[in-house]
Amino acid sequence: MRTPLIAGNWKMYKTAAQAQEFVDAVRPHLDGADAADVGICPPFLALPAVVQAAGGSRIQVFAQNMYHADEGAFTGEVSPSMLLAAGAHGAVVGHSERRQHFGETDAALALKVPAALEAGLTPILCIGETQAEREHGETEDKLRHQIQEDLAEVDPDRLAQVVIAYEPIWAIGTGVVATPEQAQEAIAFVRALIAERSREQAEQVRILYGGSVNAENAPELLGLPDVDGALVGGASLKPDSFAAIVATAGG
Ligand code: PGA
Repeated sequence: MRTPLIAGNWKMYKTAAQAQEFVDAVRPHLDGADAADVGICPPFLALPAVVQAAGGSRIQVFAQNMYHADEGAFTGEVSPSMLLAAGAHGAVVGHSERRQHFGETDAALALKVPAALEAGLTPILCIGETQAEREHGETEDKLRHQIQEDLAEVDPDRLAQVVIAYEPIWAIGTGVVATPEQAQEAIAFVRALIAERSREQAEQVRILYGGSVNAENAPELLGLPDVDGALVGGASLKPDSFAAIVATAGG
């Protein structure tokens, strides 16, 4: 009922030329199958190249960040309408690397998520706990706090237009993937949080798992009942491994 989404988060990798090369290589693997949505999240400067190279395919292009205002004196920022004009489908917001290294706050996300929806962009909102929070039994508190704050200004009837990515911070880029039990438990919990605001939207909202997903562990993770896809970092940088994960999701 929920179409899975496999999204590749390239982080600060690939020039425009390298991005085009990737899309040219991956496209033939995506033809014909459409049981999963496919997203690529390139750096801003490579975004137009990916949009162009992906033209006519089912690849959706997402930015890795955006500011909430539409224009103004905000040096260094990119607005929702600029992304839309460049052909983006949406934007990742609240990635833990942005929270950790660039001071992204839940208060900022409470503005960004509705701004994306208002512009007609699909936000992929990242949430997740640190290793210490998990060890101290604070995972659910952290997720509840992030969901409550980051989605506070989203109308309950629109919650399913947001894609949520549960990414335990200890699993990102470490090769230590969450166990299927950990991923299922956390994502079912997030779905229950959405259900507190709208049962109907909770059934429809897509919740991805992210953190050291690769072609080997994808089948088990994507087979979990509440996991609706994956946000893939390292393994999305090579066409072969990315295409293999998409194929696992039925794409
Ligand atoms: P990873 O990154 O797959 O390299 O762990 C995931 C992410 O940061 O979205």
